[in-house]
Amino acid sequence: MSKIFITRKIPDVGINLLKEKGYEVDVSEKEGVLTKDELIAALKNKPYDAVLPLLTDTIDADVFDAAPNAKVFASYSVGYNHIDIEEAKKRGIIITNTPGVLTDTVAEHTFALLMAISKRIVEADSFTRAGKYEGWAPELFLGTDLKGKVLGILGAGRIGSRVAHHAREGFGMSVFYYDVKRNEKLESDVGAKYFDSPEDLLKEADFVSVHVPLLDSTKHLIDKERLGIMKKSAYLINTSRGPVIDEAALVEALKNKIIKGAALDVFENEPNLSDGLADLPNVIITPHIASATEETRSKMSQMAAENIIAVLDGNEPPNKV
Ligand code: GLV
Repeated sequence: MSKIFITRKIPDVGINLLKEKGYEVDVSEKEGVLTKDELIAALKNKPYDAVLPLLTDTIDADVFDAAPNAKVFASYSVGYNHIDIEEAKKRGIIITNTPGVLTDTVAEHTFALLMAISKRIVEADSFTRAGKYEGWAPELFLGTDLKGKVLGILGAGRIGSRVAHHAREGFGMSVFYYDVKRNEKLESDVGAKYFDSPEDLLKEADFVSVHVPLLDSTKHLIDKERLGIMKKSAYLINTSRGPVIDEAALVEALKNKIIKGAALDVFENEPNLSDGLADLPNVIITPHIASATEETRSKMSQMAAENIIAVLDGNEPPNKV
């Protein structure tokens, strides 16, 4: 009987699929994230044939060593920067992810953040709850319109393209984008203007939304220098990976009004926040929940399970990375 280890409780649908196949499924009983030592110890308990990790698990050579029978690590995430892909390749271990099912959900959360920061929703909510509202006033919580503004997309893949669509079709914004490769479909769909380096885009965008994967080449893509060339009135939104932005530099930029505001779902050293970030009024922070809807988290669970089943049945998994 094939043995599967899941590093943390996920929605039931995937667990049930694996059980229905007759597999022995062990789900970590720890409330939180397993430390690397705990993960290694858990994997050594049984000769697991497959592992279903999360984006909070670092999967490297030591972890592969602890699960020598595992043919597949099926991540419950679209991003796979937490997995040493080269090492997996060397060992012939298959890595899969959950692309596509979370595109709309993450694009919606991105827009929720964009709307909330530009309309000062969180600040205004706190103010009203605190009993400070004394009556309508002409200049109370003035925000920023979206219509006619420029949205700069960094990374025009699935999610970036969906955000671009919402901006253009829903709010009448213009879309600029930077990517290592051109996305002609996005250009024809929403009239997006391509930039082959981030600088010119950053100079002109009223909103900048980050959608690149975390790679050596994208770490600190937004650093002190690039924050410095953004408009003083600009907002920065990040629902990709925290280390794409130099978070300490962002805190300084926000304190010194180099840019107007930021809305972040991801952080450089999760779950920790850079000093001062949470004290700033011109920031909205959510705890890495951009894909967290009932529907999408269940689909991710199903997809990860289907990837495992395909590999253990000797088939090509649908989402091999
Ligand atoms: C979320 O960040 C994911 O990669 O699925």
